Amino acid sequence: MGTNQSWGGRFTDGPDRLVAEYTDSQHYDRALSLQDIRASQAHARMLGRQGVLSQEEAETLLAGLDRVRCEIEEGRFIWRPELEDVHMNIEARLTELVGDVGKKLHTGRSRNDQVGLTFRLYVSDALSLWQEKLLDLVETLIARADGERETLLPGLTHFQPAQPIYLAHHLLAYAWMLVRDYNRLSDTLSRVRISPLGAAALAGTTYPLDPESVAKEVGFASVYQNSLDAVSDRDFVCEAHSDAALLMMHLSRLCEEIICWANPNFAFVSLPDAYSTGSSIMPQKKNPDVCELMRGKTGRVYGHLMALLTVMKALPLAYNRDMQEDKEGFLDTHATVTSSLTVMAGLMNNLTFRRERMGLACKKGYLNATELADYLVGKGIPFREAHHITGKAVALAEQRAIPLEDLDIETFQALAPQIDETVYTVLDPKTAVRRRETTGGTGPKSVQKQIEALTTWLRAKRS
Ligand code: ARG
Repeated sequence: MGTNQSWGGRFTDGPDRLVAEYTDSQHYDRALSLQDIRASQAHARMLGRQGVLSQEEAETLLAGLDRVRCEIEEGRFIWRPELEDVHMNIEARLTELVGDVGKKLHTGRSRNDQVGLTFRLYVSDALSLWQEKLLDLVETLIARADGERETLLPGLTHFQPAQPIYLAHHLLAYAWMLVRDYNRLSDTLSRVRISPLGAAALAGTTYPLDPESVAKEVGFASVYQNSLDAVSDRDFVCEAHSDAALLMMHLSRLCEEIICWANPNFAFVSLPDAYSTGSSIMPQKKNPDVCELMRGKTGRVYGHLMALLTVMKALPLAYNRDMQEDKEGFLDTHATVTSSLTVMAGLMNNLTFRRERMGLACKKGYLNATELADYLVGKGIPFREAHHITGKAVALAEQRAIPLEDLDIETFQALAPQIDETVYTVLDPKTAVRRRETTGGTGPKSVQKQIEALTTWLRAKRS
């Protein structure tokens, strides 16, 4: 194999074929082509402005890079593994197209600061897309919650019946998680959008560059403060992975609930046909594979976070080739997060809630026991004592296999003479939810407030 035309000057022999394959990254980092061209065009313009290149040379480079972009977008670009990566492939083709001036593009730049900017642009685009998808899903959740303000659902703790809530309240809990995910991404983006271009290999450069103008041109807020840090910082990818891990954790929890709800023993939801699969042997099956897969894919997203933290651990300054391992994991996480958010929005839009089943379930499991205890407190009995009396009532009802509200008034009064007929209104789950109007509670006014707050937030983010 011949020597590499970009760095092979001091070599007499090219790399072993296996070594070339081992070090090649173009087969995946070509995903960063458009970002690399954007970064190179900003660099070329700056070189022209600063007089490092003539205006004419800069313009030739810009036009040539446009042509390379067209070839890539139209699938006509011929990728050459022996050129190692996306950067070398693009530069080599540029030089073929525009001649020797193409060899001037890399003036005052190293692949170390180049890949930094290219990857930051890619991560920035990815995170913006996740944010858009998050807004779609939040919007869907708000809409579905809006339609289920009156729907009662057994609220659980320890996965056991606890207290009745509105289904709307439950759905909105997920909307709030996703709002946090969105805001976390905004915070991360403030550190992604810092340009390292100008740091060159590690020490800066002798050319009169203007890194600020490059940053501005690519839409970034600021530039690096230290050239060593600039070329060796991958915190922004770690943070993006960490945000993705939390986001997928939230989706996996929603998935788990839908899986339970779809089980015929719950039958709280009917899965849309378009979002379920059948079994090759059991004809009755309608499986929640989409949710299972999403729950499963959460694992690989966590894995990529751990992988990158491990790649970066104990790396000395500045750039090390280890860092090339930062991309494949992120490409996979990007694909996973994007598709998961899209699929979840579609599923949530098309899920059928079986209100009657949820309502029936609220009659089981003594969800209204707290109401009885609170009622007794209202009659002047200290809470601990009220709790104890209610426990006895539950035990009695359980013995008779009936709900609390089916105990007759004599039984109640034998437990506590203060109880009167009004207890039956209190025990109605509808009363229980209506009364929970404390901050962020399940009460109708609180749910209304949440819907309004989320809608306002959504509108602000969309505009
Ligand atoms: N493909 C490399 C990466 O992704 C680009 C930077 C290579 N720099 C170098 N000096 N070998 O990290």
